[in-house]
Amino acid sequence: MLVLGIETSCDETAAAVLEAPHRVLSDVVHSQVSVHAPFGGVVPELASRDHLRNGRLVIDAALERAKVSLSDIGGIAVTCRPGLSGALLVGVQMAQGIAWASGLPLVGVDHLVGHLFSVFLERPGERKEAPPEFPFVALLVSGGHTALYRVDSFDVGGIRELGATRDDAAGEAFDKVAKALGLGYPGGPVIDRLAPAGDPHAVAIAPPMPRRDSLEFSFSGIKTSVARWVAANGIPEDPSMLSHVCAAFQHRVVEVLVRKTMIAARRERVTTVVLGGGVAANRALRERLRLAGEEREIRVVVPSLASCTDNAAMIALAGGLRLARGESDGLTVSVSPHTALPRVTRKGRGRRGTEALDG
Ligand code: KG4
Ligand code: ZN
Repeated sequence: MLVLGIETSCDETAAAVLEAPHRVLSDVVHSQVSVHAPFGGVVPELASRDHLRNGRLVIDAALERAKVSLSDIGGIAVTCRPGLSGALLVGVQMAQGIAWASGLPLVGVDHLVGHLFSVFLERPGERKEAPPEFPFVALLVSGGHTALYRVDSFDVGGIRELGATRDDAAGEAFDKVAKALGLGYPGGPVIDRLAPAGDPHAVAIAPPMPRRDSLEFSFSGIKTSVARWVAANGIPEDPSMLSHVCAAFQHRVVEVLVRKTMIAARRERVTTVVLGGGVAANRALRERLRLAGEEREIRVVVPSLASCTDNAAMIALAGGLRLARGESDGLTVSVSPHTALPRVTRKGRGRRGTEALDG
């Protein structure tokens, strides 16, 4: 079955055609970076307008690049949560319009589930690595979310949060630190590029969340630590000093992400670790996680770069699993800013049992 995926949860307008369950036939991503960059972050109203402007073009391009027409498609998958409500509404409305006109089944997909399974995508021309085996521990690190999960199956019920951030997501910290250093938006790729030239120990940046045994994260402290450094020293004019600050920040963040992922794998007694989300594109994180896995005989499976950052192929894959079971949400899909995955970490506080925090 061919699945049309649509993703508009934040600042990427994306559409993809997937030959279920895994094979990517096309994957079109229109980035809104230039729209939001002057504001140093995503402006929700502008995101919705830009999705509306480009949605149709992006969907047409996805069909064209896959060399198929709508009549070849067997089902539609659209991101319906979590994300910016207005942005999500544009994608869901487009998907509902197509489903209504074509009579195709339609499923709403949780963006985080898309990220968690993005490692299973097979893209043409890419070296094929054996897919991970269940159960595995997944580290999801994006601009809006940072969490560790135990994943037992493709069912949403087989995904359990082990710990998440209490405040900022890792990607958010990259973006805010880059902004404080005058490096523009989004910050992750710039810091990734500048950090290798720096010495991570040349400037003192406090490590995030020193409690070693918890599987929760906190990144607002390290962001403040960098902001304080900038307040005291100014934005470095010397490129090597700028690289030192980027290196120190990135080193601290990567260190805590890798350490807690390995603790989670050991506690859950799993031998496979999977990475997902935009920050999974970070070269230092990919490398350090691989090395830590090698030391502990844990297999680390990392998605290709195109599968890490927001894309619609991962939404088509997650939705395709439901469509293959004959499921359809019809035209009842509604949007929510919150994930449907059960959460155990309360923002700003400690663990609080296993009931869902939100929708
Ligand atoms: O998954 P994603 O594309 O969107 C969300 O669902 O949030 O993640 C975007 C985030 C941004 O914060 C961006 O700065 C970060 O991923 N990012 C990176 C890198 N590439 C993107 N962070 C660190 N290193 C990178 N190479
Ligand atoms: Zn994302």
